[in-house]
Amino acid sequence: MSFRVAMPGAPAVTMVTITLDGEKVEARRGEPVAAALVGGGHLALARSPKFHRPRGPSCVRGACDGCLARVDGVPNVMTCLVPCDEGTEVVSQNTLGSREVDFLRVTDWFFPQGMNHHELFAGVPGVQQVMQAFARRVAGLGRLPKSAAPARAAQRRELDVLVVGAGPSGMAVALAASARGRSVEVVDEGLAVGGGALALANDERAPFRALLAAFDAAVAANTIRLRLRTPATGIFGADVLVAGPEGAEVLSARATVLATGAHDGVLAFEGNDVPGVMSARAGGFFLGHGALVGKRIVVVVPDGGGPFGEAFARAVTAAKLPCELTLVRGEPVRVGGASRVKSVVVRDAAAASGERTLKADALLVDAERAPAYELAEQVGAKLVHAPRGFVVATDDGALAPRFWGAGELVGTPFDAEALRREAEALAARL
Ligand code: FES
Repeated sequence: MSFRVAMPGAPAVTMVTITLDGEKVEARRGEPVAAALVGGGHLALARSPKFHRPRGPSCVRGACDGCLARVDGVPNVMTCLVPCDEGTEVVSQNTLGSREVDFLRVTDWFFPQGMNHHELFAGVPGVQQVMQAFARRVAGLGRLPKSAAPARAAQRRELDVLVVGAGPSGMAVALAASARGRSVEVVDEGLAVGGGALALANDERAPFRALLAAFDAAVAANTIRLRLRTPATGIFGADVLVAGPEGAEVLSARATVLATGAHDGVLAFEGNDVPGVMSARAGGFFLGHGALVGKRIVVVVPDGGGPFGEAFARAVTAAKLPCELTLVRGEPVRVGGASRVKSVVVRDAAAASGERTLKADALLVDAERAPAYELAEQVGAKLVHAPRGFVVATDDGALAPRFWGAGELVGTPFDAEALRREAEALAARL
């Protein structure tokens, strides 16, 4: 059961009330809706589109479908990327019944080996038509809003330096380029700057504090332009399409730096999709918002993983939070539970004792991350497939004419000093 905790030194917040399926949930104004829901004890937020298995947030960076809901009438909103305001209305979707009791879950029980709905009863007169009508009715996610927002034409703009991503690497590059007199604009899909640093609670964030403060000051002084909730959605030639609250724009920069970071490592094990299983980075992010993901938390750090799992464990211990936490250096083997985590089977890297079963209500996995390579691929960067995912192959950060990569995208460690040095070197070559 997830719940709210008071983290030492947390800034003052303004509380608002949002609703989840009509139930009131206390929230902090401006925090991601998913954080408020998790803090309010709601981990199962969505249902999978076909088998209607319960889903919960697992990435908190717009990369899974575990937090999808209808928000203020708009379907399929990633609730980890929208802020809470007074009266924000969240409605679960894709259920017959309720979020907790979805009668369409029987699909999963009837077809334990999977089901190809395209061929189900195909060619059986009468039954085929009934099945197709039923499948059309229950398939997909959400219902369209009653009215569509008016279309707005994309604007076209030229600029000097564009940085995609406001995590530590993007901030460091923006500051370094700005210090060299370049005019810099930064776009990020999130609600706040900081990227992975936001998943480090309290003292764990200390190595990045100077960077965060310098970037905030540069934005406040208008020496760097920042646009949040504005993802870069595609690149064609030198054009970068961004879309945010100000509308869509096609940006063409003299130099574009992709600082898109890395995806959480996802491991294949039984029950890895049960609500309560998430990346350690997501667990740390929620903790930074004062939401603890469980009362019995197992943190697993496989070989090559880190640093978020151990940082989470240290932060929980230092703050003396009311939970039982087990840190395992090894592999998750299996999760017990259907709609929430009830137990975790793990294999310790060092122990010769084999597997052990732990009672748990949340599992945080800090597996080796993989570069968020998608935009780099669109500019023609060379990709190499590795066990953890696609890796961008570049020696000096150059991806293509006018495009550069920085940070975890190009293999730079998630380390404040390493990112600062990389940014200085890169800014000199832009
Ligand atoms: S997309 Fe929101 S938690 Fe993954």
